[in-house]
Amino acid sequence: MDKIAVVILAAGQGTRLKIEAPKPLVPLRGKKLLDYPLGLAMTFIQDRGGRIGLVLGHKKEEVKGHLNQHYQQANLSYAIQEQQLGTAHAIECFFKDCQWAKESEYTLVLCADTPLLTLDILNTLYERCQEAGLDGVAASFVTKNPKGYGRIERAPKGFRIIEEKDANDEIKRIQEVNSGLYLIKTSYLLHRLKGIEAKNAAKEFYLTDVFTPNAAVEALCFDQEQSFLGVNTLVQLTQAAQELNRRKCEALMLSGVFMENPESCVVHDDVCVGAESSIATQVQLLGQTKIGSGVSIEPGCIVKNSSLGDDIDLLAYSYLEEAKVAPGASVGPFARLRPGTQLDQKVKVGNFVEIKKAHLKAEAKVSHLSYVGDAEIGERTNLGCGFITCNYDGANKHFTKIGADCFIGSDSQTVAPVEIGQGSFVACSTTVTRSAPDESFIISRGRQETKPGLAKKFLKRKPS
Ligand code: UD1
Ligand code: MG
Repeated sequence: MDKIAVVILAAGQGTRLKIEAPKPLVPLRGKKLLDYPLGLAMTFIQDRGGRIGLVLGHKKEEVKGHLNQHYQQANLSYAIQEQQLGTAHAIECFFKDCQWAKESEYTLVLCADTPLLTLDILNTLYERCQEAGLDGVAASFVTKNPKGYGRIERAPKGFRIIEEKDANDEIKRIQEVNSGLYLIKTSYLLHRLKGIEAKNAAKEFYLTDVFTPNAAVEALCFDQEQSFLGVNTLVQLTQAAQELNRRKCEALMLSGVFMENPESCVVHDDVCVGAESSIATQVQLLGQTKIGSGVSIEPGCIVKNSSLGDDIDLLAYSYLEEAKVAPGASVGPFARLRPGTQLDQKVKVGNFVEIKKAHLKAEAKVSHLSYVGDAEIGERTNLGCGFITCNYDGANKHFTKIGADCFIGSDSQTVAPVEIGQGSFVACSTTVTRSAPDESFIISRGRQETKPGLAKKFLKRKPS
């Protein structure tokens, strides 16, 4: 028997978003809206035992596709609500399609569109329900703007929830509202569901009708209105994103990361940053990025799904994607590290340098205006200004290998596939088209001619 059955209501259409995507799959900080309540539910049941079911309706195949792709291990189950006849009807569909849930001790009801709920809130609900031996608790909060919410009408014992559409003026003045988050004893819920009728202004089956005066139920009032924000419009989506970002940055700062101006930065939830690293303004750390300690990140850097060791200098306006950078390296300003870049210890990548699918070994340097793609560059090798690996023949990419301790003069190119042995010297402006053994001197350029006095013939002036 599962201790807790979690049901996530995700059948709604989300018409107010004005976009094609189904509401649960609206993008939020590199994930989807639904990933937030789902992730929270998974954490909540982790030590207590439980299982999660989702009620799907609108664009259910798309939503299922996302879940199958990302939650294979989570043992999720699905219920289908073809017609959305109300929240109580959604729960009935859940018990019909997820029979296992009937055996659970408690049912936790979550909405797919409340990404700011916290584990603390769920734990508080659970503890209160158990301690007081209640049949159910609803999370409520007080708001200055209760319009649209169900109002909480407290009774000496128990309470009821009155929807906006059914409320008279006196009820509408109540500022304590229903958040839509409930923990209910499953046996009680199954029993009360049977009696629910659609006798209300919306002609819907309201789940809120399971709470009544004289029942052993309680509205637990929380003072964090923000955490119950429901995303119905793209304005609210941005509000949710900002709040999640604020929380993430606060957690980083409390763990010893310097942040100059967190409101100007975006840091995704799965990002890790070591203590004593510092993040300047307008930095974006995205996806599964891992950053060591003592790393300095200057303004305007964007780092996606990359891993950086300790004591790295990431200079202004650098863009890293799926790159691996070892401790002590220096990158930028204005550097671009594309997928498959690996920089070993103390590598230096300077301004206007692009690197793709290339391994630069320890202390290699490429300081200015270069492209290095599909290549391996040996330890301590210096690539001069304007060096280019010509890796593409129009159809295929080819590999360049340059050994350790080479000096590659400025404005040189290597035409791949090609290999230069260690300790070689390539004179500047050389185009290397054939491989060369260790310790070679390589040069390919026209000899200089100087004709004294001949400049006049070539310096043309506009007639004045
Ligand atoms: C609901 C509550 C209200 C509360 C508010 C908080 C009811 C009757 N009212 O109102 O007291 O203040 O949430 O935001 O529950 N859904 C389905 N199938 C349906 C209907 C809804 O899956 O047939 C899903 C929606 O996709 C949504 C959730 O249930 O995720 C809540 O439904 P919604 O229509 O938004 O209810 P509200 O009118 O906001
Ligand atoms: Mg709603």
